[in-house]
Amino acid sequence: MNKIIISPSILSADFMNLEHEIASVKEAGAQWIHIDVMDGHFVPNISIGVPVVKSIRKKTDMFLDVHLMIENPEKYVKTFAEAGADLITFHYEASEEPEKVISLIKSFGKKAGISIKPNTKSEEIFPFLNSVDLVLVMTVEPGFGGQEFMHDCAMKIPSIREKAPESLIIQVDGGINNITSKICKSLGANSLVAGSYIYKSNNYKKAIESLI
Ligand code: DX5
Ligand code: ZN
Repeated sequence: MNKIIISPSILSADFMNLEHEIASVKEAGAQWIHIDVMDGHFVPNISIGVPVVKSIRKKTDMFLDVHLMIENPEKYVKTFAEAGADLITFHYEASEEPEKVISLIKSFGKKAGISIKPNTKSEEIFPFLNSVDLVLVMTVEPGFGGQEFMHDCAMKIPSIREKAPESLIIQVDGGINNITSKICKSLGANSLVAGSYIYKSNNYKKAIESLI
């Protein structure tokens, strides 16, 4: 298995000190930053959008992992790509034509990810495993940080790993901590998103190291 990629979710960071919060996790060993975009329709919460991604891009060279929890993702791919996203992950459930969204993301030279909510079966995304760079398996209902890890959802990982090309990144998001990270890694995940576990800890370095 490749190296584990840790992607701290800034949803749990202190937004008044975002520059410092991002620099701190970089200093602590993270190479990616997970940016949760919520529209109040696809999920029952509103978070941040394009201007924030643009501002982050100006201040860091970290890999920007943008998780779109929005309806009609195809309408916004261009603006997020131009804002400086490196990876754009959209939800399978939010798109009528996932293959088109994947091609659109790639047309901007960005990495493409597809995500599934807890009630979506892994088989549904099998047709896209050769087109995407990453599959994001949600282990909570998307919308909020700080929720409890759903073990059943992690059980989707082996079947995806079995069908996927070797280069596919399988990322898990929701309820990741020092214990659930081990479960996900043993099942075949190689990228972990963690929000509250890292940003609510008093030592980002120790928290990140405990996930690897
Ligand atoms: C939830 C978001 C997550 C969230 C994870 O909808 O997609 O990225 O920040 O938060 P934790 O790690 O606290 O479960
Ligand atoms: Zn996320």
